[in-house]
Formats: sequence, C-alpha cells, structure tokens
Amino acid sequence: MSAANMLQQIADEVRACTACRLHQSAMRAVPGEGPADAKVMFIGEAPGFHEDRQGRPFVGAAGQFLEELLGLAGLRRSEVFIANVIKHRPPDNRDPLPDEIAACSQFLERQIAALNPLVIVTLGRFSMARWFPGEKISRIHGQPRWIEGRMIIPMMHPAAALHQPQYRALIEDDFRRLPEFIAQAETKSAQAAAAVVPDKPDEPEVQQLSLF
Ligand code: URA
Repeated sequence: MSAANMLQQIADEVRACTACRLHQSAMRAVPGEGPADAKVMFIGEAPGFHEDRQGRPFVGAAGQFLEELLGLAGLRRSEVFIANVIKHRPPDNRDPLPDEIAACSQFLERQIAALNPLVIVTLGRFSMARWFPGEKISRIHGQPRWIEGRMIIPMMHPAAALHQPQYRALIEDDFRRLPEFIAQAETKSAQAAAAVVPDKPDEPEVQQLSLF
C-alpha cells in the first residue's frame, strides 16, 4: 500500500474511533493533514475549538501563528505534515488524560511509520514526551536529537508562545534555525545511505587493502 493510501486509511479509522471518551463530546475528529511525501512532520497536542469544528489541525490562533513560524523557516504549510497526539478535542481544551493518550497513540505511531519523515518537530510537552520523557521543554527546546533514524526537534507549543513575549522570541529563534537542522538531517541520512559496511571486515582482501 502506498504511503498516501496508508495515511488515508488511518484518517478513516480516526474518524470512526470510539476507543476513548473524547469522541462523545467532540464534533469532528482531526486526523492530521499534509502530503504523503512530506519530509518534515509537526506534532501538536490536541484539537481546539476551531479544529474540532473544521476537522483540520492548527486552524485557530495557534495555527495562524504556526504558519507565521513556518514562514520564518522558509516552509509552506502545504509541504509539511501536521498532526496531533490526540485526535478528538478534549472538553474545554483540558489536558489529555493518560488513558486517552494511550488509546490514541497507535494512530500517531502508524502515521509516523507511513510518512517516515526525516525530521519531526514536537510542539509542546505532550508530543515531546513521546521521545523525551521526563525532560523539560524550557531546557531542551530547539535542540535536535537523532532518534530511531530521524531527527527529532522539541519546540515550544505555538499557543504557549503566542501571548508571552519571552517565549515568542524563543520559538521564533528555534524556527529560524529549522532550515539548518533540516540540512543537517539530510546530510546525515545521505551519509548513512552511502556508507558501505563490509560484510566481513576480517577477510584477507580487506586487510591487504589496508596495507596501501
Ligand atoms: N493546538 C494543538 O496542539 N493542535 C491543534 O491542532 C490546534 C491547537
């Protein structure tokens, strides 16, 4: 099955999901969106009021700010994949509960597997916790790490940064560095693909070559 078909199938399953209580109060599921060949994936927390109405991620105030931030990184929204940890809106935008995160996690895992992005940018603490459990966003934001064959960059949540000038400057600076991080990830994955690892390094032929 192609990546696009897999993502479509996951989205269909998300829209039919009743695995936790959140589908009861939500208007629409928000599976996530973006091209199946996107090399950068952004992962937020959960749909809010506007996302719940439209069935699309990051379409409210935080979404507008995210689009501004993407602009600082020279990226267009249409070229990246945007998803959330939680696919149905929690009532009154409360924090998702552990059992809701557990019930929803298979969708995000399958989206990541289908998309296989080179770079994942986590937005806020709930998506950060998938790769950096126990870490503090204030300490590690904007510091990429190479995990499971891809670059993971923890960033603050745009909604948290929107109204607090000191965070706003931080998240803007982190997004300005994104092109540099993406270039590093591209170099690293190209090097990994080109690396020729000898099957049997102890074979005489290899040893002889090393004499020259
Ligand atoms: N905040 C999120 O984390 N996700 C959205 O889709 C919208 C706001």
